[in-house]
Amino acid sequence: MLDEAYKGGYAVGSYNVYNYETMRGVIEASQELRFPVIVAFGHKYLENMSLECAFAIASSLEKDAGIPVCLHLDHCKDIDTIYRAVRAGFTSVMYDGSELTFEENVRNTMLVCEVAHACGVSVEAELGSIKAGDYSHEGGEDDKEIFTDPLKALEFVERTGVDALAVSIGTVHGVYKGKPEIRTDILRRINEKLCIPLVLHGGSGTPEDKLLECISNGICKININTEISMHTVECTGKYLAGHSPHLSVLALKQVGYIKEVVKKYAELFMNKGG
Ligand code: 13P
Repeated sequence: MLDEAYKGGYAVGSYNVYNYETMRGVIEASQELRFPVIVAFGHKYLENMSLECAFAIASSLEKDAGIPVCLHLDHCKDIDTIYRAVRAGFTSVMYDGSELTFEENVRNTMLVCEVAHACGVSVEAELGSIKAGDYSHEGGEDDKEIFTDPLKALEFVERTGVDALAVSIGTVHGVYKGKPEIRTDILRRINEKLCIPLVLHGGSGTPEDKLLECISNGICKININTEISMHTVECTGKYLAGHSPHLSVLALKQVGYIKEVVKKYAELFMNKGG
């Protein structure tokens, strides 16, 4: 999916999911736009749903969708969980060794690639580190911002054989505390050295012109989490202020709120030529 996007000069949205409503909203919005989608189940959400359950729901929804759907394990630092996701049927996994030393990150990513590739599963890794803004569910206060070094990125990709690389160029997990400063100059240098799809984490709230500039410079996967959650919670609050619905009705409303955000981003990503 990402190789196609890389060749076509567009990006595929990767949206975080943790229950049936998020999965349905993400897939249904993409289905209506006839655009591929990455359903990202974060390690963080294992308390909400097991890997097997995520796979069962995603595969069931995918059957009727008629578009390519990738089930991806997002931000996982635990190699055993990655292997369990591969066994459960995930088609892509992210090993997040961004907090480790370069050599440790290389070593662990190589291990993950060996197993995942043997099972036909693609691997994303991260080099550099992105910081957290407000309301982030992925990042923490202590997260440092370390921009990805283009030369190190080349060495990392050559040694590990990863399929996609997440880069740090100024986006943040969560809501930006100030004006976003996106270092597309660094991205351009990384893209000149590497010939693989690049991944942008912290998509929520990133200015549209910057997202498009990133897509023109090798970004093929853009992760969105916080904005879906914030929009849905806000709309749910407003709805509940005027109604006392049955939970089943509220759940359907939430699918609609989730779709609004997914469509907004997917339309931007696909207009780039997808
Ligand atoms: P946001 O929460 O900032 O959209 O970032 C999502 C993300 O990068 C998931 O990996």
